[in-house]
Amino acid sequence: MAAKKLRMAVLFGGRSGEHEVSLMSARSVLSVLDPARYDVYQVGITQEGTWLTGENACDLMENGDTKNLTHCTILPDPSRSGLYGMQITENGLSLEMITALDVVFPVLHGTYGEDGTIQGLLELADLAYIGAGVTGSSVGMDKSVFKDVMRANNIPTVESVIILRSDIKKNIEEVIRRAEGMSAYPLFVKPANLGSSVGISKCNNRSDLGEGLMDAAAYDRRVLVERGVDAHEIEVSVLGNDMPIASVPGEVLPSREFYSYESKYIDGTSRLLIPAPLSPEIAAEIRQMAVHAYVAIDCCGMARIDFFVEKATENIYLNEINTIPGFTSISMYPKLWEATGLSYVELVDRLVELARERKVDRDLTERHFRRTK
Ligand SMILES: Nc1ncnc2c1ncn2[C@@H]1O[C@H](COP(=O)(O)OP(=O)(O)O)[C@@H](O)[C@H]1O
Ligand SMILES: [Mg+2]
Repeated sequence: MAAKKLRMAVLFGGRSGEHEVSLMSARSVLSVLDPARYDVYQVGITQEGTWLTGENACDLMENGDTKNLTHCTILPDPSRSGLYGMQITENGLSLEMITALDVVFPVLHGTYGEDGTIQGLLELADLAYIGAGVTGSSVGMDKSVFKDVMRANNIPTVESVIILRSDIKKNIEEVIRRAEGMSAYPLFVKPANLGSSVGISKCNNRSDLGEGLMDAAAYDRRVLVERGVDAHEIEVSVLGNDMPIASVPGEVLPSREFYSYESKYIDGTSRLLIPAPLSPEIAAEIRQMAVHAYVAIDCCGMARIDFFVEKATENIYLNEINTIPGFTSISMYPKLWEATGLSYVELVDRLVELARERKVDRDLTERHFRRTK
């Protein structure tokens, strides 16, 4: 007898600066899901946060043609978990179940996708889902808290200071003095919680720094200032739950002065070197650090972990973790697995298995404190 098909919701789009990137990732994922094994439900989330479903939701959303899509939602009540169609009625809303779900794949990057918020909903709904849980996602998203956890685990990160928007507003001279006291220029300024290089600037002098601080503070209430390192940018893919494994490392050669938003998505000329031309010792150390970092923030499913290898010293610094990395067939995350021996199709299947295994594990957890007399 053929195995039962898995009912899978693929979530994409979302209320984040990486909405378009998410549609590209989702398009690749959807193109490899074997219809003999999966019943796929496409769920597009608009920039405003409205959930829409329909057969070709991804295409329609890319074309901005969403009028024939059905409003939908997932409820937090585990006794009603599944995908619901939603009609707007005179008295409010009426819901009708479209399908129960065996697994959810949030292909959502950045805010409200990669930061633990959607994961929180899926936990409440008691659904199996791909990728990190609430803690791994939110710690992975916050560059400052993430660095503190790395430091507590003796994983090297570039020197940095964290600054509040209110301090920038109150006394920017004092903030600049603190940043300059930490390191000489160049300095990098970044919002604590964002991705895709949005709000990030490289500052070569005090006037750049003033501007960079104001710019980053527009995107977040906490801003990170880091020593700028002249480094190779090395990335590693990690996969697994309790026994994660790391891929071969790859190197990004940004097309511009740094790996900016334009360099990542607009001019399309940044190059990937796979595997990265590193000594076997450094490659092994990076792989080991990647797994250590993954475990330290309680990641599961997948993550891409990015490093700097300083050119002058060969010092390794862990830069950041992406718990829902770019997932098009030419993105670094799947490319690194391909180079390590796992094809794109196998990777997606493995992620589904990991999501289901974690749900089984989660269900073992005792939810009620049983008082013994
Ligand atoms: N401390 C730093 N030194 C040198 N380059 C940096 C530093 N921090 C960031 N960059 C550059 O900016 C890019 C984006 O920064 P990153 O911290 O990875 O944020 P994002 O989450 O937006 O990708 C990096 O890929 C790198 O090119
Ligand atoms: Mg990055």
